[in-house]
Amino acid sequence: MSVGGPAHGGGCVATAPDGRTVFVRHALPGETVVARVTEERDRWLRADAVSVLVASPDRVEEPCEYAKPGRCGGCDWQHATVAAQRRLKAEVVREQLFRVAGIDRDVVVEEVEPALGWRTRVRFAVTDDGRLGLHRHRSEEIEPLDFCLIASPGVESVGAEALRWPGMAEVEVIAGEDRAVVVTAKRKKAPVGADVAPDVSVLRGDGRGGALPVRGRPGVRETAAGRTWWVGGSGFWQAHVNAPDVLVDAVVAALAPQRGDVAVDLYSGVGLFAGALAPLVSRVFAAESDPGAVADARQNLRDLPNAEAHEGRADQVLARLGLGRADLVVLDPPRDGAGAPVMAAIAALAPRRVAYVSCDPASLARDLRDVPGYALTSLRAFDLFPMTAHVECVATLEPA
Ligand SMILES: C[S@@+](CC[C@H](N)C(=O)[O-])C[C@H]1O[C@@H](n2cnc3c(N)ncnc32)[C@H](O)[C@@H]1O
Repeated sequence: MSVGGPAHGGGCVATAPDGRTVFVRHALPGETVVARVTEERDRWLRADAVSVLVASPDRVEEPCEYAKPGRCGGCDWQHATVAAQRRLKAEVVREQLFRVAGIDRDVVVEEVEPALGWRTRVRFAVTDDGRLGLHRHRSEEIEPLDFCLIASPGVESVGAEALRWPGMAEVEVIAGEDRAVVVTAKRKKAPVGADVAPDVSVLRGDGRGGALPVRGRPGVRETAAGRTWWVGGSGFWQAHVNAPDVLVDAVVAALAPQRGDVAVDLYSGVGLFAGALAPLVSRVFAAESDPGAVADARQNLRDLPNAEAHEGRADQVLARLGLGRADLVVLDPPRDGAGAPVMAAIAALAPRRVAYVSCDPASLARDLRDVPGYALTSLRAFDLFPMTAHVECVATLEPA
């Protein structure tokens, strides 16, 4: 079959002989491939390209042996040059903005190195016999792995894949500046229907392929924006080793802060953007729903008396603070986006500029469509997830 353009979420779009849309993984636009159907629905199919009859000039041999049809589902674009991956992602962002929000603009995805060995946190699944792996594409099945090429050297230094983890449901390896820690969640053995929290234990990689129990507070230290950050347990931190600096630079450039400004950082995690903005403005209010991340943010921002970390959902914190007005807003919501009520609450603050940091162009486009009185004035996109279909955007909004 002939393969068309890239689809949001990975793969390319094609048409089956019966007219249904097919999302083809392991293919590239313009190729002719033999595809094996992996999922069938009334109106669409998923398939893997198992043989390439006419190859794209962008095609390369996958650097990772697990990135093959039917195997690891972690990476989507290993078979494309890194430059081509960025063009594919730019096309997806462009299409989402146009289809969902009616915004027609060219998109360039900027390179962020490295393209392999970038991921400083990896959440592995565990097979029944205790081996680590990653899920096959859209499957509960696990592909056991001896290594992960996109994992950072710090993650791989633990050697977690060489160990056996019987009884664990999940093993997350997190590499900070100072050490790598392993957060494990035990399998639930509860009666059906019982709601049991995972039992989390934290171990430290000894750098020789072993794991030792962590002494003191579990977590890692990170450096970004010229500051040191504590990220506890498996709390959120940007996954690409260079993402925090890249995003802080982009957000500060987007907001152009001035001395007397009042700024708001929504979905603030451990305080990355609030901490970067505080020295540049008069006050920063941060809002984050995860109590552990808020505790870390308070610790991370303790030398910045003009920065406050508030616990709660973004909409609830905004209502509680009752600011009335703010000059600048940065928001960095999870994949689902912020939603219309939060976007309306941001608009009600009448900020001079809004910087929207997004890891999903579809939810970004929805939120841009739903923000009253504001228009997109600049859009940057970054390849912060090389080899995967993910892309990070920083959108600047200003009063329309
Ligand atoms: C993509 S992370 C961004 C964190 C931070 N800006 C950073 O760059 O490190 C999203 C954060 O939003 C938090 N979160 C999720 N839903 C939320 C909500 N409704 N209100 C506030 N925070 C929320 C998550 O706990 C997570 O820390």
